[in-house]
Amino acid sequence: MKTFRFCVSLALAALMIASSIVLAAQNPAPASAPRGNAENGRMLFAKFGCYECHGREAQGSTATGPRLGPNPIAYNRFIAYIRKPAGEMPPYTAKVVTEQQAADIYAFLQSLPRPPAAETIPLLK
Ligand code: HEC
Repeated sequence: MKTFRFCVSLALAALMIASSIVLAAQNPAPASAPRGNAENGRMLFAKFGCYECHGREAQGSTATGPRLGPNPIAYNRFIAYIRKPAGEMPPYTAKVVTEQQAADIYAFLQSLPRPPAAETIPLLK
């Protein structure tokens, strides 16, 4: 009987550990970007006027705003910056750009094509 109880509590403990692992996998740290839709993000990038300063392809300009992608800054820094920018940029509160819309814009920035490596451009050889 004692062995049976021990086995049951062992099984319960294993179940609890397994379920906490599953739960942790379902809720990744908030630092990672929520799933966004890049196509919708491209549309929102134009709709919210980000393109006016950062360029249609987020390529940036020395006069109006820096390049944002490809390889955007970490998502938690991205969302923190658009909510509370430090310089010339206007703030975008959660009432204007929702968390999901921000994630879509971020997905758009991540989806931008990377430039070819300099060694692969014949004119630069
Ligand atoms: C009026 C011009 C303007 C608009 C509109 C604008 N930005 Fe900016 N943004 C800037 C400028 C200028 C900077 C550089 C830092 C500063 O002065 O705030 C910047 C910086 C940023 C940064 C930080 C980049 C880094 O490497 O640290 C992010 C992210 C960003 N913008 C995203 C956006 C998004 C997303 C939108 C649209 C929702 C947007 N911006 C709209 C002008 C603008």
